[in-house]
Amino acid sequence: MIGRLNHVAIAVPDLEASCTQYSSILGAKVGKPQHEPNHGVTVVFIELPNTKIELLHPLGDQSPITSFLEKNPSGGIHHMCYEVDDILSARDQLIGSGARVLGGGEPKVGAHGKLVIFLHPKDFNGCLIELEQV
Ligand code: CO
Repeated sequence: MIGRLNHVAIAVPDLEASCTQYSSILGAKVGKPQHEPNHGVTVVFIELPNTKIELLHPLGDQSPITSFLEKNPSGGIHHMCYEVDDILSARDQLIGSGARVLGGGEPKVGAHGKLVIFLHPKDFNGCLIELEQV
């Protein structure tokens, strides 16, 4: 069902410092910050030859990243995103096998303008999984 690894998302307490680290120290191609008020995040994409890294920083008072950073003050891996061809059939298969889809199960438009769902981390070894329809 799942295809390529689309990105790994890392929550970061200092977005500018993390961008500098990835560009200057790790020598990666770092994009411009994108504010996503609907998701409560500012996102920076880092292009790697085989996947992307998504740096996430809280935006606004209701950000889902705020509590994550309270628990992980120096930042940490927030989720992995796998590609799927058909998000509705993937969702239905997953629900049929007992996995929990967050937020009521309806796909939403994610940070790349594509449909995404999130799967409960307790069902997947403590890892929050995002599925993105490509
Ligand atoms: Co993501």
